Amino acid sequence: MLTPFKQTPVPYKITFGKQKISQISNCVDDEHENIFIICGESVLETGLPDQIASHLSDFSTLIWPGVRSHVPVESIKEGKTLLCENDIDVVVSVGGGSAIDTGKAICIADESDYPVEELIHADCIDAQPEINHITVPTTLSAAEMTNLAGVSWPDRDMKKGIKGRGVFVDDIIYDPLLLEETPSDLIASTGMNALNHGIEMVYCNKHQPFTDATALHSIRLLYTHLPDAVKGNQESLAYVQVGASISLLGYTNSATAINHSVAHILGVRYGIPHGIANAVVLPYGMRFNLPVATNRFAIIGEALGVSPEEMTNKEVALEGIAKCENLVERLDLPTRLGELGVPKEDLALIAERLLEEDFINSNPQKLTKTNIRKMLENMY
Ligand SMILES: [Fe+2]
Repeated sequence: MLTPFKQTPVPYKITFGKQKISQISNCVDDEHENIFIICGESVLETGLPDQIASHLSDFSTLIWPGVRSHVPVESIKEGKTLLCENDIDVVVSVGGGSAIDTGKAICIADESDYPVEELIHADCIDAQPEINHITVPTTLSAAEMTNLAGVSWPDRDMKKGIKGRGVFVDDIIYDPLLLEETPSDLIASTGMNALNHGIEMVYCNKHQPFTDATALHSIRLLYTHLPDAVKGNQESLAYVQVGASISLLGYTNSATAINHSVAHILGVRYGIPHGIANAVVLPYGMRFNLPVATNRFAIIGEALGVSPEEMTNKEVALEGIAKCENLVERLDLPTRLGELGVPKEDLALIAERLLEEDFINSNPQKLTKTNIRKMLENMY
């Protein structure tokens, strides 16, 4: 039975192809002058920010390697100050989810009347910032696709989003050759995060047909091509780059659920990378929701390659979950919370925090302290 839904388009332009990075100046208007290239230290060391600056030699460029994991609010303040001091009109974020979310947040911070610390209270940021935001993803985070910038607010001990149409980037450049420089373990973990996006988008209670279409295709592409992409196969890297992108194309019209909520807590509280946390949580979150969303998990199972002939929906769903478990192991990623250094005595606190998470309302299984605690203990 189809329930009512809304479908709104996304505003950014996507350019995909080998060596498309050399055409980045096509995304910059002639009247722009000062370009701020932002990245983390590890991306700086690859030389990519310098390469991008060389493709933008008609403009003044400033490289800032001030991006930090999980986007602490302090780095947003620092970036905003540099934007103002240097009269920046274009931001180019280069790297994974933290670089992209930092780019989104500093563009909004520059535009907003709210002090940076108060941006979390701005209900919905819809006005497009004057600063143009171009992004060059080098992982499979897919952060570039959403109208959300996840920021760590230390006083709250959790990650909360700045959101609204104004947060969207303007241009995305996917150059699959850049992924060849990305460490294979990062391809594996961010790829599992992207697979999780597609899966959660289909089983969450905000699913709808338009987002099913894209999320299911992302599941097919990622599940099929991740193992070879991690081995450096060029064609597979291109497929997983597109698969990851599509995994969040439906984000503004659907949602993620409990897996991402747990991953956010693990990220902010213990510094566990988002992709690693997602890889651990994925099968457990699926099993947690299976009893109330069996038909949705059967659709997911088919996208994962399970043939439904002569099988019940529950059997297809369970085989799909087993395939995800197997993929995590094949990619040599951790499978247990205990492996990530989370103290067992913290499980009660994590369960409590989970009930306060932004995305938790879209989880189909009703949450109680008891059932969350049981899921976390299984995961440990
Ligand atoms: Fe994610």
